[in-house]
Amino acid sequence: MKIRRAKDYADMSRKAANIISAQIILKPCARIGLATGSTPIGAYQQLIDWYRKDDLDFAEVVTYNLDEYRGLAHDDPQSYHYFMRKNLFDHVNIDLANTHVPDGSNLDAEAACAEYDAMVKAEGYMDLQLLGIGNNGHIGFNEPDEVFSKGTHCVDLTESTIQANSRLFDRPEDVPRQAYTMGVQTIMHARSILVIANGDAKAQAVYDMCFGPVTPRVPASILQLHTNCTVIADEAALALCPL
Ligand code: GLP
Repeated sequence: MKIRRAKDYADMSRKAANIISAQIILKPCARIGLATGSTPIGAYQQLIDWYRKDDLDFAEVVTYNLDEYRGLAHDDPQSYHYFMRKNLFDHVNIDLANTHVPDGSNLDAEAACAEYDAMVKAEGYMDLQLLGIGNNGHIGFNEPDEVFSKGTHCVDLTESTIQANSRLFDRPEDVPRQAYTMGVQTIMHARSILVIANGDAKAQAVYDMCFGPVTPRVPASILQLHTNCTVIADEAALALCPL
């Protein structure tokens, strides 16, 4: 695990966008796993900026998002489908047919997850997986558990995640209680992984991810075992790390 210190959110975002952009330049048809949440928005803005300057071409890029709330229509403003269009896809020349997000509108969890898993596997998994990290160490929506999850599956969100994500909803009771997420094993199949984190609310999770024991109680801790994982975090998120 390589840990890179960023000065602040803007620096973290630019460094992350540099790695994503390098991947696309090296392999224009790269399979890129994308994340939602507040953390990656700055990196997506930087990528849009480079696209507008003609420095980046998304024409052949294929994307798979980590997760989606169960029960939200694709055009629901709280859905991750909507988030991706608003924050990246609608502003670059990506072919929407090449973008994939688990189908939260399909309430048949087993079918929705099996279908997504089959697609990710058929692609040969991701060249680069971008990850944020939850305050409790979750990645995608893989919450602390007794075992590491494998493929795409339906999860019951923990109270801490519902609480953390409720800031983006009008009322806490509007936060869906379930989500479909790529499993930890699927994430670990990516050839390279990039984790980004900022702010002091993430300091404990970042410490546990990088220096704690590898345990499903902190799903991100398994990334210590990946052979090509880079963490880019700002000063506040690295505050507890002995670096
Ligand atoms: C959600 C997403 C995660 C994300 C996490 C942190 O739970 N499913 O993929 O990493 O939130 O979000 P934020 O970046 O807003 O802190």
